[in-house]
Amino acid sequence: MNKSNIVLIGFMGCGKSTIGRALSEKTGFRFMDTDQLIEHTAGMTIPHIFLKYGEQYFRMLEYKIIRAISENPHQIIATGGGIIKNPDNIQMLAQQGSIIYLKTSPEQIFSNIQYDETRPLLQGENKIEKIRLLLTERIPLYEKYQDYTVDVTNLSVEEVVDHILEL
Ligand code: S3P
Repeated sequence: MNKSNIVLIGFMGCGKSTIGRALSEKTGFRFMDTDQLIEHTAGMTIPHIFLKYGEQYFRMLEYKIIRAISENPHQIIATGGGIIKNPDNIQMLAQQGSIIYLKTSPEQIFSNIQYDETRPLLQGENKIEKIRLLLTERIPLYEKYQDYTVDVTNLSVEEVVDHILEL
């Protein structure tokens, strides 16, 4: 198989962008972050897109970005946590990419993002409850679509990067 892209999937705050950037530095592959590309295309931040146009519109932009980039080779692609909601997204990404699920615990996610205000789906009270609820829906999908899973809970960025490169 000659799939040259590495595609990172996983819940918000699991480290997809940080690990993706580090992987890109180490491999020389181009780093693509779907959230960043969406913001760039829309000319506004993700919270602003959700507020002004709603989640469905955001998902449509997400789909279009994936369609535009997924066939290009030699990329590290960091995706948004909800990418797995549309099977077409994964189908496109998997054509040229190995799908790597960065798995972590709700507690770790909470600790990574508790002061973050840029994730519309986790705004307001009871963040840990929201995380748990969304994880219940999503874990089966991350598991279904992964080619490889890396449990990042107690690993440094360096360790995760080395592990992925070994895979
Ligand atoms: C989302 C995750 C976010 C971003 C948007 C929706 C989700 O990306 O795409 O807020 O549905 O899980 P990160 O996983 O990079 O936070």
